[in-house]
Amino acid sequence: MRIVVTGTRGQLAQSLLACETADISLIAVGRVSMDFEKLQTIAPALASAQPDVIVNAAAYTAVDQAEAEEARAFRINSTAAGAVAAAARKLNVPVIHLSTDYVFDGRADAPYRETDATSPLNAYGRSKLAGEKTVATANPDHVILRTSWIYSPFGQNFLKTMLRLGETRNEISVVADQYGCPTAAADIAAAIVAVASTLLAKRDDARLRGTFHLTGSGEATWAEFAQTIFDEAAKHGRGRVNVIPITAAEYPTAAARPNNSRLNCDKLSDVYGLRLPDWRHSVCTCVARLMSGA
Ligand SMILES: NC(=O)c1ccc[n+]([C@@H]2O[C@H](COP(=O)([O-])OP(=O)(O)OC[C@H]3O[C@@H](n4cnc5c(N)ncnc54)[C@H](OP(=O)(O)O)[C@@H]3O)[C@@H](O)[C@H]2O)c1
Repeated sequence: MRIVVTGTRGQLAQSLLACETADISLIAVGRVSMDFEKLQTIAPALASAQPDVIVNAAAYTAVDQAEAEEARAFRINSTAAGAVAAAARKLNVPVIHLSTDYVFDGRADAPYRETDATSPLNAYGRSKLAGEKTVATANPDHVILRTSWIYSPFGQNFLKTMLRLGETRNEISVVADQYGCPTAAADIAAAIVAVASTLLAKRDDARLRGTFHLTGSGEATWAEFAQTIFDEAAKHGRGRVNVIPITAAEYPTAAARPNNSRLNCDKLSDVYGLRLPDWRHSVCTCVARLMSGA
């Protein structure tokens, strides 16, 4: 199986590349040959990689900056995503596209299901929701995976930021009234490989296509996520860091975030038999990897 992923240095792209085995080739197509802001580059670059399945992991992910650059976020997250899906259709291969918990406004009391009404609070969420629609329209052979709070040893993310801040501080204030689920890019990557092989094995199974939620198991606030990171780092010799819980109102950002980002992942479990590990377990693995310098 040849899995072609868009983007080279992204958290998910890097984590997918690490899934390569003797039977599964992972090929990253990045900006050198394909720029999402130059639509004409997309189809030829993907075709020359000869995919069996395409994973669209590239995106405009600067959530706060998107408030000032909404048109650019839409070009990359919606128009270009649609072009990736259309290229996949032309090649007669499925496309697996990544989306976000930020398509919801977070006002529900329970974890969101795939059928719940969307209503993004910010420009990034609006661009990702538009991307879901362009992908689904461009290629019926699609899987849209909504995930949340991604972290990994690669790129920029909350876990790495906390570890960096913890080097010089013993107290950090973190938002404690927003709920979601931290998700390891490595866990998403492993699930994507499983989804891809199932899709290829069952080309005509409509149940396998559509939108699915995919996050780590369990739930947390940003403050609980941070405290767990610091507690794990302490096991590797770092000094103790205490998290001071604050409200989102006390930590204003350009883009509003949902208070409830929790996603119900039962559909993926029912249809694909996949459920990601508990988020604490994967945080422990990622911190250990970073602290060992691996
Ligand atoms: N990060 C999160 O917490 C989070 C949460 C929910 C959903 N998601 C979604 O999950 C997916 C993967 O996220 P991630 O955290 O892996 O993202 P990331 O680390 O920010 O990486 C983004 C990738 O997009 C590529 N890219 C950006 N602009 C591009 C352009 N104009 N042309 C071509 N490539 C471009 C980057 O290219 P380079 O390799 O050249 O840098 C990079 O590979 C995205 O769809 C994101 O929206 C992320």
